[in-house]
Order: sequence, then structure tokens, then C-alpha cells
Amino acid sequence: MSQYHIKNLEEYFQVYRKSVQNPEQFWEEIAEENFIWRKKWDKVLSWDFSKPELKWFEGAKLNITENCLDRHLHIRGNKTAILFEPNDPKAEAEHITYKQLYERVSEMANVLKDFGIKKGDRVCIYLPMIPELAISVLACARIGAVHSVVFAGFSAAALATRINDSDCKMVITSDGSFRGNKTIDLKGIVDKALEDCEGVETVLVAKRIHSEITMQEDRDYWLAPLLEVAYKDCGAEIMNAEDPLFILYTSGSTGMPKGMVHTTAGYMVYSAYTFKNVFQYNEEDVYWCTADIGWITGHSYIVYGPLANGATTVMFEGVPNYPDWGRFWEIVAKHKINQFYTAPTAIRALAKENLSFVEKYDLSSLKVLGTVGEPINEEAWHWYNDNIGKKKSPIVDTWWQTETGGIMISPIPFSTPTIPTFATLPLPGIQACLMDENGEEITENQMNGRLCIKFPWPSMARTIWGNHQRYKDTYFSAFENKYFTGDGALRDATGYYRITGRVDDVIIVSGHNLGTAPIEDAINEHPAVAESAIVGFPHDIKGNALYGYVILKEVGEGRDQNNLRNEINQLITERIGPIAKLDKIQFTSGLPKTRSGKIMRRILRKIAGNDTKNLGDTSTLLNPDVVDEIIKNAL
Ligand code: WTA
Repeated sequence: MSQYHIKNLEEYFQVYRKSVQNPEQFWEEIAEENFIWRKKWDKVLSWDFSKPELKWFEGAKLNITENCLDRHLHIRGNKTAILFEPNDPKAEAEHITYKQLYERVSEMANVLKDFGIKKGDRVCIYLPMIPELAISVLACARIGAVHSVVFAGFSAAALATRINDSDCKMVITSDGSFRGNKTIDLKGIVDKALEDCEGVETVLVAKRIHSEITMQEDRDYWLAPLLEVAYKDCGAEIMNAEDPLFILYTSGSTGMPKGMVHTTAGYMVYSAYTFKNVFQYNEEDVYWCTADIGWITGHSYIVYGPLANGATTVMFEGVPNYPDWGRFWEIVAKHKINQFYTAPTAIRALAKENLSFVEKYDLSSLKVLGTVGEPINEEAWHWYNDNIGKKKSPIVDTWWQTETGGIMISPIPFSTPTIPTFATLPLPGIQACLMDENGEEITENQMNGRLCIKFPWPSMARTIWGNHQRYKDTYFSAFENKYFTGDGALRDATGYYRITGRVDDVIIVSGHNLGTAPIEDAINEHPAVAESAIVGFPHDIKGNALYGYVILKEVGEGRDQNNLRNEINQLITERIGPIAKLDKIQFTSGLPKTRSGKIMRRILRKIAGNDTKNLGDTSTLLNPDVVDEIIKNAL
């Protein structure tokens, strides 16, 4: 990745200017120099945000796995591609070389083909963080099947919704997963989900925890014996630049999750280019991103970005507090990690524990630290900088989204001076801007606005699976001819961006995006519930936690409130997953509503955050009295 590899601030500005003045030439040079193509493109970019329609590298033919695997074989065939660190600290780490990864991906791809999976088919992957997960992802890409990875913490109902939405033919899962000292019955969850999924013909099952599970005849197959007899070579399906590579679901403000569709060439170019620049990866480095491959961070910065650069990428199966809160640092010391990328919520949790968990380990290999997923507060930033980076490793606070496919705003280590809580400057090619409430672009600095992007970049999601209108409405309708991120941001006097948080009905809890609507739908299913509203409130570790206001039906009145709270959280766990459970549930006789019947979440948010002094004008509400009642009974 030599072209436009940035090494100082001056270079950044030069490269940035070039990327804006002539974006097509800029991306063409990167694409040309750093990847292998079966056929080059006829046209670099065509776009129209009003439709919206986007095409990058049209006419090009390629397979992303040839860029992630084949081309490395003769130069770094024996280099570790994936370094797997198991949940059990006493179990040995597994070093999978590029050659071995190539063979294992080929075997898996051949198994998929044997079951009739072909180009364009959707395959759902519901696996823990074990090598089979990365291998399945790459095997799909090898044969042109579209992978849809569902985070293995989602419930059966949430899994079924995602399988059905994109009509997956196959599910790849495991008997179960290890999580610290617990195990989770993944196959049981899949079985339950599949009661509602008629389109699934095959379930492939990796053996991980050796639990007793039921296998349904002619549907469920153990993976290991199939892989054992599969060929270690599998020709790559030649894909068009704009063929879909994967679907990944993200929460929206209405009930259904949005299946964001990413396509092949643009995604490859952008994830690889940003990996190289944001982490300043060098050939001998060992890079670790603690995310799960079930999220976009894992797709772009555990699998595709690192492997396209021939990097050594760590996959960690476990959790930060098992066997104790020193686990991350033990791994850093053991594998001499050079780049470490995690979420603010993890940093806050780690910072609460005794420093001795950190001090026990030699962290001197670390060169670059990263964060992603939510705003990082100043205290957490300093803790990370002082105790982990020892003030010598730059922190890259990377802002981006499932929809953007890759990092958009971030410092470049050793080039961009960092300021805590600022994601700083847009990467080359990213034309960020702020918009005001009237739809005008804010050109001055030191202003707050809604964060938009005014020019396409290669890894933009191209649509929402099966619902292009929703894609248009969500991202391209708020501001004419701009991609709207859903985030608010401040731009300081020097042009640095600080992301202030979501401005829509998405709440980020422990780095996970949660839409309010699906949670409210789950609560409202409870027979005693008439209506509900969810808001976020500040939480020391999770960033935000969820506060629910619930109106009961007559049948619910007089019932034990704690029992009701447990039942409501149980329902949420079943419908979505434990990550969406509410920290506080307040029962109320009403919700503040505008005259048109809209719930005034702004007021509910303030009450939940214990900030009731400036509630603003409540007199125009349909039912102003209910506000006093809610304040009086606030938890
Ligand atoms: C938030 C994760 C502040 C933001 C890659 C965004 C951030 C949403 C940051 C996307 C950051 C992500 N600072 N906020 N560095 N990074 N966010 O789709 O609100 O899971 O819109 O993608 O996370 O979350 P997603």
C-alpha cells in the first residue's frame, strides 16, 4: 500500500487536497497500484445521490479473496494471517498462516458448493469468534455467495428476522460458544430461529464446546468431517465490481433492522487503504482489534482490511474479564501486539479496575491505540493514553458506521496531533460537512451541526437489502444531495470534528447501536403493557443505558412492579438479545405528547438523565401534568 501512504501532517494535507480536487484519479491510482484485478474498470465512478445510485470501478472484475489470500502466498505464505487466541487462557493460541488460511477457506468454499451454494446466494453466519467464522466469511466471498453475519449474542427471534429478510439458504453455526466461564447454546438458538425460517435448507455446525445438541436429519451437518475430505483448492468466482459482497444488519429508528449491502471492489479498496493509514501497519507487526466479526468493525478491520494488506490479525474468542481483568494486557504482552483497537465501553470498564492488572504486563510493543463505536469521554481517553499507551502511542479515535464500510474521520498516527474526544480530520477522499436545521451547510468553524458527507467514497453501502426506498429516506432525504449520518458533530477552530452523538432514535449502549422502536415493540407485547417509550441516559461504563417509561393496562395495575420489570426484560432478551435490556423501568400513567400525538422524547431524556431544570416549554403538550408525575417518580 505505497500509494498515498501518509507519514506526516503535510503529506496528509497534500493527499487530502488531491483526493478532493480529483477524487476519481485519486482512487484510481490507489486501486491500480495496490490490488490485483482480473479486469480493470471502464469507469471509476458514477453517482447520483438523488436516486441514490453509486457505482465504483464499473466494469472491473475481481475476487476479494484473491487479494486477501492468493497474492500473499508466494511472498508471505508462512506468515501468520490469523492468530487465534482462545477463551481459555491455558489453551494454546493457533497461528494460521496465509497458506493454511488459503487451504481452509478453499475447503470451506468447496463444502458450500457441494451444498449447492452459488454466486448471489445468501448465507447466514452465526458463529462465535473462532477461526471458522473468518473462514466462512472468506469462503462465501470465494464463491460469490453473499454473507450475512449475525452477531452470536442476538436472540433466536432476532436471528430469524435477519435470516428471513435476506432469504438465506444456509446457516453456519457451532454447537455452542465459550464466553468467560460460561457456555452459550448457539445451536439451540439456531434451532429455535429456524422454526420460523422456511428458506433454510442446510445448517453446517462447527464443533466447539462439545455439548449435546440435536441434529436434524437432512438439514444439519457437522462441518469437520466435510472439511476433512474437501479439496484444498477452490477457484475464485470472478465478480463484478458492484456485485454484493455482504449484508450486515444495523439498527434503525423503525422496527426492522436495516440490511446494509456492501459491494466488492469499492469496499475492498477502501477498507484496505484505511487500515494501512489509520493503523500505520508495517510488515512485521501484530495487529489486534477486539471487536466481534458480527459487527462492521470486525468485517473491515479484523478480516478484509488487514488480510488485504497481508497483516497478522488477532481473533480473540473471550471476554476482557476472564480469567480476570488483566486478560487484554496479558494477550498484548504475550503476542507483542503493535496496534490495539477497542471500544470506549471496554476502556471504561477496564479503567475501573485496579491498575495492577495493567502493570503486571509488558506493553512496550504497542505503537498505535484505537477506539471506535461511540464517543470516548475525556477521562477514559486519558486513562488509555497514560496507562496503556504510556503517553507514547497515539490514540486514533475513529468515527465511522456500518453504512460507511470503513473509517471516515480519524487521526493518522504520528501525523495528526490528537485532542481527547476529537475524531479530528476526515480521511483522504471524505468530504465531511455540517448542516444546520434549515438545511444549509455550515461553513464557519466552532459550530455544531448535523454531520453529512457530500461526495461518495468507495465503501458506501449501496442500498438496504430489499428496501431501496428506505435507504433513500434514511440517508439521502434529510439534506439534498448529501449523505446524512444520523450523528451530530462540532467542528472546532482548527477544523477538527468532535462527534457529539446520535440525533435520531438510535441509542448506543456499550458500543452497540440499538433502535428504540424494536425495543418498544418487544415491551408492548407484554400483556400488561399499554404503551412504552425508551430513552438513553448517561452510564459510567456503557456510555448510555436504557430507561423505559411504561404505561400499564388495567390488568397490570396492582401487580408486583419488580416482577413486571423482570418479565419485560425477559421479553426484550427473547426478541432482541440481552444487550437491549433496560437498566431502569418506570411505570407511569401517561407519556408527554405533542398535540399531534408524538412522544416528546427530549423531555423523557432529560428526566432520565436527572436534568430537569431546563425542560423547556411544556405548556404546548397535550398533557403537561404528566411531566410532574414522571419527575416525581423518576428512578
Ligand atoms: C457512533 C461502528 C463517536 C456514531 C463502526 C455512529 C462514534 C455509530 C464513533 C455507528 C467515534 C462510531 N466517536 N461516535 N469514534 N465511532 N460512533 O454502525 O454514532 O455500529 O453513527 O459502526 O457509532 O455505529 P456502527
